[in-house]
Amino acid sequence: MNKAEVSALFAQQFSEAPSFVIASPGRINLIGEHVDYNSGFVLPAAIDKYMYVAVSQRNDSQIALHATDLNQNFQTNLDAALQRSNLDWPNYVLGVIDELRKDGHVISGFNMLITGNIPIGAGVSSSAALECATVFACKHLFDLDISKQSLVITAQRAENNFVGVNCGVMDQFASMFGKADHVIKLDCADLSYTYFPFKLKGIRIVLFDTFVKHSLASSEYNTRRKECETGLAALRQQFSITSFREATLIMLDAVADTISSHVYHRCRYVIEEIARMEAACNHLLAGEIHAFGARMYETHTGLSKLYKVSCPELDLIVENCMKETAIIGARMMGGGFGGCVIALVQTTELETVYNRINAVYENTFGRSMGKYVMQIGDGTRVLK
Ligand code: GLA
Repeated sequence: MNKAEVSALFAQQFSEAPSFVIASPGRINLIGEHVDYNSGFVLPAAIDKYMYVAVSQRNDSQIALHATDLNQNFQTNLDAALQRSNLDWPNYVLGVIDELRKDGHVISGFNMLITGNIPIGAGVSSSAALECATVFACKHLFDLDISKQSLVITAQRAENNFVGVNCGVMDQFASMFGKADHVIKLDCADLSYTYFPFKLKGIRIVLFDTFVKHSLASSEYNTRRKECETGLAALRQQFSITSFREATLIMLDAVADTISSHVYHRCRYVIEEIARMEAACNHLLAGEIHAFGARMYETHTGLSKLYKVSCPELDLIVENCMKETAIIGARMMGGGFGGCVIALVQTTELETVYNRINAVYENTFGRSMGKYVMQIGDGTRVLK
């Protein structure tokens, strides 16, 4: 969508032109999963699918929100403390406002229209995109003096504190800092980052969507975080390390008696994934795409067997990707328990392999899987 189209929707709803229209993308992640909250590195990129928000200031203290695609409205007053809504989507906006106000920023009433084309519940972070769009819109609407890094942290805190998912920083960072045709190597310990060109000749990044939206995803996510904290505390009792970055499997084995087997497996995955991510980046720099793909498959095995955040639908797709020579690598992506598999697929074989894997998928689960061919796009911005 372009600025004029979003502005027209806004005008229909609020009978005026918006002051700004913001586009904020969803994200993919090539490798480095469930390590952003464990001081690891991740390799995400923004996609060319967006949440769009259009905003204007009001001269009262109301926030009036309209979600075009759901045809729902939400209105609240800024004079009192913000309360969670029973509708999901307003909480991403309210959470951002709440965090901005905690930091002492002055927010007054505004109108906001929300629309977009990011598949919801597919694990490509439509929620982070809405948080980033909101915080970016506020920065422009209220002329806030706030750095891009702080915008990311504010968006993440909205999800942690108001929405209640104790997520890491990857999704919001990728949405805000995305760059067309590049992946971002992000050091989640200090938010330093490098862009790597990622345009592979004859290869496309494809998502296979299970269409499974697991209701346990957020509670299990928070449980994984706690298990990792428990494991790290046990490691730190015996070794002078500060994070998983410095931990080794030898250290983990040394504390194995003091932790549950669940915690052991979670930590094992994290330590392996941090090392695997580093190896994968070296493969990418050396142009060794097949070695990179092999690391993706290993990540899937770890997420499925040790970290236990996969599901039968994701596992079946990845198992069948492994049988295809035209697929360089594949794995479940994001938080897990549903959503998408990310695969690197030879362009010419795309239809054939989709049809073959989908036939097995249909046979097993009685419905089709989705397919999205991804382009890597730019991060959050004001549309001109
Ligand atoms: C979700 C979270 C991220 C990250 C991934 C797993 O997308 O929001 O912070 O932890 O899961 O890598």
